[in-house]
Amino acid sequence: MSKPKRICVAFGTRPEASKMAPVIYALRKQAGLEPIILVTGQHREQLDSMLEIFELKPDHDLDVMQATQRLPDLMARIVPEAANSLRDLEIDYVLVHGDTLTSFAVALAAFFENIPVAHVEAGLRSHNLKEPFPEEGNRKLTDAITDLDLPPTQLAKENLIAEGKSLENMIITGNTAVDGVQYAIQKAVLAEHLRGKSLVTITMHRRENLELMPELAACIAKLAKENPQYYFVYPVHLNPVVRNAVYPALETIDNVLLEEPYDYLNMLALMQASELILTDSGGLQEEGTALGVPVVVMRNVTERPEGVTAGSLKLAGNRAESVYAVTSPLLQDATLRNAMRIKNNPYGDGLAGERIAQAVAWRFGLAERPKDWQARY
Ligand code: UD1
Repeated sequence: MSKPKRICVAFGTRPEASKMAPVIYALRKQAGLEPIILVTGQHREQLDSMLEIFELKPDHDLDVMQATQRLPDLMARIVPEAANSLRDLEIDYVLVHGDTLTSFAVALAAFFENIPVAHVEAGLRSHNLKEPFPEEGNRKLTDAITDLDLPPTQLAKENLIAEGKSLENMIITGNTAVDGVQYAIQKAVLAEHLRGKSLVTITMHRRENLELMPELAACIAKLAKENPQYYFVYPVHLNPVVRNAVYPALETIDNVLLEEPYDYLNMLALMQASELILTDSGGLQEEGTALGVPVVVMRNVTERPEGVTAGSLKLAGNRAESVYAVTSPLLQDATLRNAMRIKNNPYGDGLAGERIAQAVAWRFGLAERPKDWQARY
């Protein structure tokens, strides 16, 4: 028998880990392939907690995180280290995910080492290089150097075709975020101090929103004061810039609870128990939709418009006035919220990991080409 192909699954931040775990599980079941986990450690604590939940042990850890890291420095630390590791680990194929600096840096390292790269969650586009920044650039740059494109949805596929990418090596897989939620939700238990309360989940960490964060935090303070029937729970990202902006505006309000970052299970339990999610995150748009909870997106544009069309998301802009105008009626009217609890998930069906593993096997002639996933909504 020939040696199994060594498939490097590379990631570095908390959200990538939960979205790559289902791919690793599926690769383990695919004959002829051997997954090798390479983490950059772009996040430290937040990544480690995710690895623990999914019981994943990295084969190699670049451990690059620094306090208040700058993007060029991070890039300069990851590329050569990742290239050396890919060579030392005798990698045949690389999988990166989404739009983080890690994704693009590792894809570039693989490209320079002449190792083919597949992009999981390819083709998401806000069509605005400044929002989200630098993610829109990272994903476009990654898609320019791939061997295989794995768009989660039809729309993502169309974005890639519009940029001239070939249909031949492109398979619609559904988003692995849905697989991750389906896997982990059974284990998620709401923390005791939150039980029996009407909850609203808040998260906010985007780089392009950093300057606006005091203003947005003041808007959340206003919403909380006007809606004392809710408990607003905000697990604050470890980024010190985010923390300095958020704590002064919100820490003294009775029905706002600022928490240390939640692990994935606590986060899923909080979201599932919430009446509403108010966020600038990418992944929470998919996870909230998968859990049937309405999501208000504090951004001007989304690369995940499927949820807006299907009805689970409302795009509120990133200024206090528009966030308030969209959120306040939703907090006060259950009918409006119920209309956003949709049944058919436009992002995926929980089998994306399997399709991705099969697609990689197909590239090595070890399996049939998987069929495109088709959403119903
Ligand atoms: C990164 C991704 C973003 C993703 C987000 C999820 C890029 C450019 N951005 O943004 O797309 O939505 O992760 O969280 O890749 N920190 C810690 N410990 C941790 C994690 C972060 O201390 O476990 C602090 C550090 O001070 C670090 C800062 O957070 O410097 C920012 O982390 P970084 O990875 O640079 O950017 P994020 O804002 O987390």
